[in-house]
Amino acid sequence: MRKKVVAGNWKCNTTIQEGVELAKAVNELVAKEGAKDVVVVLGTPFTHITSVVNAVDTSRIGVSSQNCAAEAKGAFTGEVSAAMVKSTGAEYVILGHSERREYYGETSEILNKKVALALENGLTPIYCCGEALDIREAGTQNDFVKTQLEETVFNLSTEDFSKIIIAYEPIWAIGTGVTASSEQAQEMLAFIRGLIADKFGAAVAEETSILYGGSCSPKNANELFANPDIDGGLIGGASLKAEDFLAIINAY
Ligand code: G3P
Repeated sequence: MRKKVVAGNWKCNTTIQEGVELAKAVNELVAKEGAKDVVVVLGTPFTHITSVVNAVDTSRIGVSSQNCAAEAKGAFTGEVSAAMVKSTGAEYVILGHSERREYYGETSEILNKKVALALENGLTPIYCCGEALDIREAGTQNDFVKTQLEETVFNLSTEDFSKIIIAYEPIWAIGTGVTASSEQAQEMLAFIRGLIADKFGAAVAEETSILYGGSCSPKNANELFANPDIDGGLIGGASLKAEDFLAIINAY
């Protein structure tokens, strides 16, 4: 049975002190009333990871970085390698987020290097894909997402692909309050699962956790998560409020 996953992406928010307080609040709520069959992940800024790992019950809550370097180590000032991320106690790394692609020029070539290094260092990539509004309006979103996957994670071995989580995040829904409809989300995630089946076989497709992200909130999570191909969410704004994040975790 594939895993249900609700991962928070805190983005560039909170000081370490605020982040630890948020992590402790989530930890307490999840311990008391969190759905037991949902994998909970906190995607924190690099600076917070070790403090958050030390603040939560890591048997119940995983911690993720939001990026890693495309190089293993060396003269790359300011970069944080996958090995460094792993050494903090993080288990996951969010890769390919549209904000990194748009603002920091992350290409498929760069992402292939990051995914490989993440896997080599024992991190689980939460690999993002998703189209901009103009592509959705043109009706070519399936081709766009297919190309994103074929240029990157579809080049992995079956064994390595089986280790990753996919997150579909339509750019037009990120931070806008305009969530994809339940039908739109289900249609795309079923399409992605079909692509995985064609590439890696039905068993791998059935076991791959595919998440939805983009203005997911306590108001719409129940409807979204009721869909057969939606295995959880990658949550931005709503993950910064412990009660809202718990409501999404418990939305099943
Ligand atoms: O990675 C998740 C994020 O992009 C979604 O953001 O604020 O629309 O939930 P938000």
